[in-house]
Amino acid sequence: MAIPATDGRRAADGSPFPDRTLPTFERDVRRMFTHIAERYEWFDHVASLGNDYLWRPRALWDLDRFRPTGPIGRALDLGCGTGELARQVARHYPGARVVAADFTGAMLRRAEAATRARSEADRLDFARATALRLPFAAGSFDLVTNAFVARNLANLPTALAEMHRVLRPGGVLLTLEITEPLSPTFGRLFHAYFDRVVPWLGAAVRSAGPYAYLPESLRSLPPREAFRAALGHAGFVRTAARPQSLGIVTTFLGEAGAPGPQSR
Ligand SMILES: C[S@@+](CC[C@H](N)C(=O)[O-])C[C@H]1O[C@@H](n2cnc3c(N)ncnc32)[C@H](O)[C@@H]1O
Repeated sequence: MAIPATDGRRAADGSPFPDRTLPTFERDVRRMFTHIAERYEWFDHVASLGNDYLWRPRALWDLDRFRPTGPIGRALDLGCGTGELARQVARHYPGARVVAADFTGAMLRRAEAATRARSEADRLDFARATALRLPFAAGSFDLVTNAFVARNLANLPTALAEMHRVLRPGGVLLTLEITEPLSPTFGRLFHAYFDRVVPWLGAAVRSAGPYAYLPESLRSLPPREAFRAALGHAGFVRTAARPQSLGIVTTFLGEAGAPGPQSR
């Protein structure tokens, strides 16, 4: 029997379990992040064994080695979640105004609350927006960043084209994402942990769906070289992929070319 379009997939504990094959996928991803918003940061640190503390700063280090010199005045962090990368971007580029955008209200509220007392707070703005249709004019930003968002997107090429549209020519995109380890031997160890232990940890905190979805979402992401090719198709003229932690995550970088026909 076909699952009705209005009722997304759920795990045995009732938690949302987004299914890319259903028309409700985007809504279910939003429901999933609403469900885990409160525990997101804590679970992220535990599941990554603390490595997430290193990945975002290292990605900004990769960015500085890739991007043409010049100031960053306007930046957008897309799928900002609780705002960790947006705040790091603001601290890393003290002259920048940063828009932190996300389509999940619960995540955005946590990002705003976590930012309020910080010294960089007056340079951060918050916006509720979907990556598939950004509410910003063409060429608005010098830098677009996103961390651990790409594999959740219903349509990666559309989102990359949108990110390219809102960048000025010469502006830079940074995408940080979980990827397949470089070595098959280490890959087996990684998958034993990521495909079995992490969902088990998720089930222990009544989030079986979200953390069973996690390894599934990784399989939907194109491999590194195909991801770089997708950046090229979206209009990025110079691209790079910089693996971190034996390839568990990769910093993808792209320099925006001239505006495409999709620009408004
Ligand atoms: C895994 S979290 C990452 C949060 C944050 N970037 C970080 O580094 O911790 C993914 C975030 O992307 C957001 N997201 C997923 N798909 C989105 C979309 N299509 N448009 C906007 N935000 C999206 C989710 O709501 C969630 O907050």
